[in-house]
Amino acid sequence: MYNFDEVVERKGTDSVKWDQTKAKGYPEDIIPMWVADMDFKTLPDINEAIKERAEHGIFGYTFVGTTYLEAVCGWMKNRHHFNVEKDWIVTTPGVVTALKIAVLAYTQKEDAIIINKPVYYPFDFSIKNNDRKIIENPMIYENGQYTVDYEDFEKKIIDHNVKMFILCNPYNPIGKVWTKEELKKIGDICKKHHVLVVADEIHQDFIYKGYEHIPFYNVDESYKDFSIICTAPSKTFNLAGLQTSNIIIANAQLREKFIATKENTGVTNPNIFGLIACETAYRKGAQWVDELVAYLEANIDFMVDYFEKHMPMCKVIRPQGLYLVWVDFTALGLDHETLEKFMLETAKLWLDEGYIFGTGGAGFERFNVACPRSVLEAALKQLSTAIETISAK
Ligand SMILES: Cc1ncc(COP(=O)(O)O)c(C=O)c1O
Repeated sequence: MYNFDEVVERKGTDSVKWDQTKAKGYPEDIIPMWVADMDFKTLPDINEAIKERAEHGIFGYTFVGTTYLEAVCGWMKNRHHFNVEKDWIVTTPGVVTALKIAVLAYTQKEDAIIINKPVYYPFDFSIKNNDRKIIENPMIYENGQYTVDYEDFEKKIIDHNVKMFILCNPYNPIGKVWTKEELKKIGDICKKHHVLVVADEIHQDFIYKGYEHIPFYNVDESYKDFSIICTAPSKTFNLAGLQTSNIIIANAQLREKFIATKENTGVTNPNIFGLIACETAYRKGAQWVDELVAYLEANIDFMVDYFEKHMPMCKVIRPQGLYLVWVDFTALGLDHETLEKFMLETAKLWLDEGYIFGTGGAGFERFNVACPRSVLEAALKQLSTAIETISAK
């Protein structure tokens, strides 16, 4: 049994999550629950493998070897019934890097790219900062559930001559695990109108009881011709600092274009430690991930229960996957600036504010619950105490 209850000191490690409070002017004792980075130590075998390689003492230019590729294919097949061939895999230093490469490789300036809303905000930057146009397809939010407005999706694709769709599968921030039927409806619309799909599947391994992750290629054989899938071990094993992701591109022409653009943007050889970490994770990490996901699901149960008992007016959108929990605070009646100030200064919680995810996000907060239960409990207590101060006014 692995121990996810251990509280590990992360301050003083140049951690993006923990070490920027001073620079931001936030209270020193704030609890950070924003960026998708876990407070757990990774799989111990990864530490061992990195130490062993470090002992060698030479860290020259490195390429992606066969055993690495076999490990990636093995993980996809064993965990997701996803048959990937070794030569479909292209590494990049991150999934966001891959999104930007895909935008540059497959679209032209001024082209329209569609995304659901609210969504992981770097989707916007990847489009906007490359002088492409964002077309929004807002999700329908009813009775705590999110569904796609397919009519709006197709109409906007036609009206704006959309060239690309960036799909978040599973979906950050709302915690949705798409069903095969939903993906088929979306995929068929894209196929019909020649829209290239970039499926960001970085959260694929965090799926809770009763749900299943469907890789976009598994929806329909023909989808391989017009889509690419972005995966990484970084969320699953807490390896973001090692900058290694695997982009799966079955279609040879799409793959060649991607590789050419990747090289032009200056991304060349991979990081030796990232490769070692990923290969070890995918060969030895299955049990660790099973235990981790069970721990996270129990954290979510704890959080849902805590809100129901102590803050019933605020609605937790129970995630079907991911360790990010989307909570509706609109009942507090605060505008988004006041809500942000309240979270930072009164509750002393550093969260990802809903409004940064765009249309439909204001009034919500995204909590990262990949932390020991004791930390989660302390955070929720701080929040309920802070909310009592509003109710008392
Ligand atoms: C949907 C999604 N894609 C990509 C990333 C970041 O990926 P990377 O660090 O590999 O760029 C995140 C991180 O939170 C994410 O949630």
